Amino acid sequence: MPQITFLLPDGRAETLEAGDAPTVMHLAIRHDLPGMPAECGGQLACATCMIDVAEAWRGRLPEASPDERDMIEDKVGRVPEGRRLCCQIAVTSALDGLVVAIPERQA
Ligand code: FES
Repeated sequence: MPQITFLLPDGRAETLEAGDAPTVMHLAIRHDLPGMPAECGGQLACATCMIDVAEAWRGRLPEASPDERDMIEDKVGRVPEGRRLCCQIAVTSALDGLVVAIPERQA
């Protein structure tokens, strides 16, 4: 299974085995990573599962849907480069080595 590295708001890094986590958000929640409330549980209704995808990975993930981009824009006023809602990123073997950062705030 793929390994995914999360850069945490406090500067630490956690590299986790994805196991059977269906999405990147589920993996973060299962390991109780800080800064990831994911309040709606993956229903694309809260935008509290934001991550910043490492630059080297930005072109390697499926593109965000218009709804995902709208949610991010509503929350932060724009869509920063690499910003995603990680409940919308399905875990696949192609994600092995993915690096994402959890922003300091989910607002
Ligand atoms: S968990 Fe709510 S939008 Fe991702």
